[in-house]
Amino acid sequence: MYRGADHGSDDAVTDGGSPVPVGVKIGSTRTVIAFPAPDGSGVQVVQTLTCLAEYENPITGETKYAYGDDAAAEYPESVEFPLRSGLPDAGRQTELTSQFFDAVVASHDVPEHSAVVYVTPMSDDEAGQANLRRVIEQSPIGQVGIERYPEMLCGAIPALGEGLEAIEQVFAAMNLGATHVEAAAFRRGEQIAPYRSGRTTGNEVDRKIISNVENETQSRVHIDINTAREYKEQHADFESFEPVTDVIQQPGGGRHEFTIERSIMDPVEEYLDGVVDIFAGEFLPALSSQYHRVHRLALDQPIVLTGGMACIPGLVAEFQRRVRSVVDEDLTVTAPQRPDIAATLGAHRIATRFVG
Ligand SMILES: Nc1ncnc2c1ncn2[C@@H]1O[C@H](COP(=O)(O)OP(=O)(O)OP(=O)(O)O)[C@@H](O)[C@H]1O
Ligand SMILES: [Mg+2]
Repeated sequence: MYRGADHGSDDAVTDGGSPVPVGVKIGSTRTVIAFPAPDGSGVQVVQTLTCLAEYENPITGETKYAYGDDAAAEYPESVEFPLRSGLPDAGRQTELTSQFFDAVVASHDVPEHSAVVYVTPMSDDEAGQANLRRVIEQSPIGQVGIERYPEMLCGAIPALGEGLEAIEQVFAAMNLGATHVEAAAFRRGEQIAPYRSGRTTGNEVDRKIISNVENETQSRVHIDINTAREYKEQHADFESFEPVTDVIQQPGGGRHEFTIERSIMDPVEEYLDGVVDIFAGEFLPALSSQYHRVHRLALDQPIVLTGGMACIPGLVAEFQRRVRSVVDEDLTVTAPQRPDIAATLGAHRIATRFVG
């Protein structure tokens, strides 16, 4: 399965020592990298927003860049997310993604003498997949080899055991991402009855939060898309949502304090209904009609929810409750402890096998 060196195998020899396993996800919202902590204390995880912002050094006039969380915090008006809409096109999106990724790898000393397993979304955009691969191939890491696995399968790995048990089992999963929702069954690693939609997404929730906040504040408050995402990530909660109070500076001075009660959870509730509809109304029937026995086996195992949107407190239990109420099955639902970094941790575990 592992194809070995894609480039730079000479460097690997001169570096000496055994190669290091690295898991990578370059997602549309965040990039996550996992590798052994240099002090031997376990796995180090780097997680930052997939974005960059250009600025000018006021003394030299030189064009400079800020990356990741810093770029988003300091340059909210000009920050660019090159993968905002998904896999990169051949031009500027790939270029900016490469520049971003190389900067993150360098600033966190991700080992170059490494075997990289990276994850990719379910997509038939082959050019986009090739462009993403190029970003990793052209980066300094992965000198010993580069391999890719489905994001959803990797995300299920930490949910189903301490090792690679997920690769040996039959189960169904859903990946709740920023630009897509995915569903599939896995039979010992093979993806079955894949379903993918760009309609029910984290980004869509963020867009609705913007217009809801406008409505709820009688057009006094306009937030940008990153603020909407932060509201969702910090406050959305199916167990104990509290109204959110924030302050804006008004044009011409003066602070305006406002409280929103429904603007966050309305779209999040609607989102979960959409996810349940897809799972119970589209994915399961398709799986059952094409692979009846696999469908049966998969429903006897916990359904795994992965992806950043599965981080919302109480979402997993609420998904289980709603699915049970529409399908006549006693199914259970589970999730990895950190659905937002699980795919990278799973990829890192696979990479560990390759160097072992
Ligand atoms: N703690 C959190 N609470 C709520 N939502 C979160 C949290 N963390 C991440 N998200 C949301 O999850 C989404 C990102 O999920 P993920 O990282 O799986 O996406 P992605 O793989 O980059 O996107 P895609 O594959 O769809 O292009 C975003 O909408 C983000 O705001
Ligand atoms: Mg994804």
